[in-house]
Amino acid sequence: MHDLIRPTRLLANALAVCCWLANAPFVCGETPSFVGNRDCILCHSSDTVAVKNDFMALREVELWYEDDIHNDAYAVLVPKPENELANQMSRALGYAVHEDGRCLSCHANLRADMAPPPNFDSIKEYGVTCESCHGPSSEWEDPHKTLAWRGKRPQEKEALGMVDVRDPVRRAQQYFSCHIGNEPQGKLITHEMYAAGHPLLPPIELVSFTERMPPHWRNLREKGDFLLRREFLAANYPAWDASEALQDMPAVAASSWGRS
Ligand code: HEC
Ligand code: HEC
Ligand code: HEC
Repeated sequence: MHDLIRPTRLLANALAVCCWLANAPFVCGETPSFVGNRDCILCHSSDTVAVKNDFMALREVELWYEDDIHNDAYAVLVPKPENELANQMSRALGYAVHEDGRCLSCHANLRADMAPPPNFDSIKEYGVTCESCHGPSSEWEDPHKTLAWRGKRPQEKEALGMVDVRDPVRRAQQYFSCHIGNEPQGKLITHEMYAAGHPLLPPIELVSFTERMPPHWRNLREKGDFLLRREFLAANYPAWDASEALQDMPAVAASSWGRS
């Protein structure tokens, strides 16, 4: 496995031992980690029986699977005849690209700044997953299913590892980490990789890239009324007066470009 992730793994192992010695799993267990897409799929699709909801379209999974090329991000690395570019890169670089942290940092969820997910081998095939953008879900998967979640402030969600992708700045940080690079996360395209044939990353523009994903969410206007709307607005748009509840929210804020 690549050097970049080795120190993180050593650190994680050392921490795990310390936690065990200190008998303090309640402190140590809080570091968010990736768990994979399997659970998300059960609920976030139109044939779910687990969720009935007035907030989301419940087509998130279908859109990601059918129309969003992020789900191919790992598949394009696997050694097989049709993956000519990946095969060529493995030969030129001298390592198996579908197993190496230098590629899997962007093409799956193997980040240099986090311990590798224990079940990484069984979840890597999902590529750039729900969690790549929404954040590692070990700490928020449970609480986020509740109605009360609508009144939580984005900072509280972030503390559990859920990225506030409604904030254009946070969204940009997530997108840019793979489409430009992020050194601490181990997401770097080197000259060597370009020489081996990696496509040039096209300049990223947030709005058009978002539209092309395509969006699997509904902005505020599209959602219409929903339970605890007022609490949701107060938590997410504190600058505005919740008593007026943004009944007629400015178009820019209600679009998918602003906080939506
Ligand atoms: C048992 C069902 C269930 C599972 C499993 C589940 N979700 Fe959800 N999710 C929900 C429900 C219900 C809501 C809406 C909560 C509400 O009513 O506001 C939701 C909301 C969300 C939201 C919007 C949160 C917000 O703050 O507005 C995101 C993003 C999300 N889920 C992603 C995921 C991801 C990623 C996974 C897998 C790691 C996942 N969910 C697993 C049921 C589920
Ligand atoms: C900084 C993040 C990053 C790293 C690191 C990275 N890639 Fe990529 N890679 C991307 C992005 C983003 C694209 C899609 C480019 C586009 O928009 O066309 C891509 C595209 C590709 C494609 C083309 C897929 C297709 O069919 O169009 C291959 C093959 C590929 N990468 C292989 C690799 C290999 C092998 C490595 C490691 C040696 C690697 N990548 C490292 C971000 C990365
Ligand atoms: C490439 C990044 C990316 C990936 C991958 C991704 N999402 Fe999202 N998701 C977003 C963004 C950005 C938003 C919200 C933007 C907004 O509301 O303005 C969002 C919004 C959502 C919402 C809120 C829906 C609503 O109507 O408010 C849910 C639920 C959700 N995503 C679930 C998922 C699930 C489940 C997956 C995997 C099948 C997934 N997402 C994969 C970026 C991503």
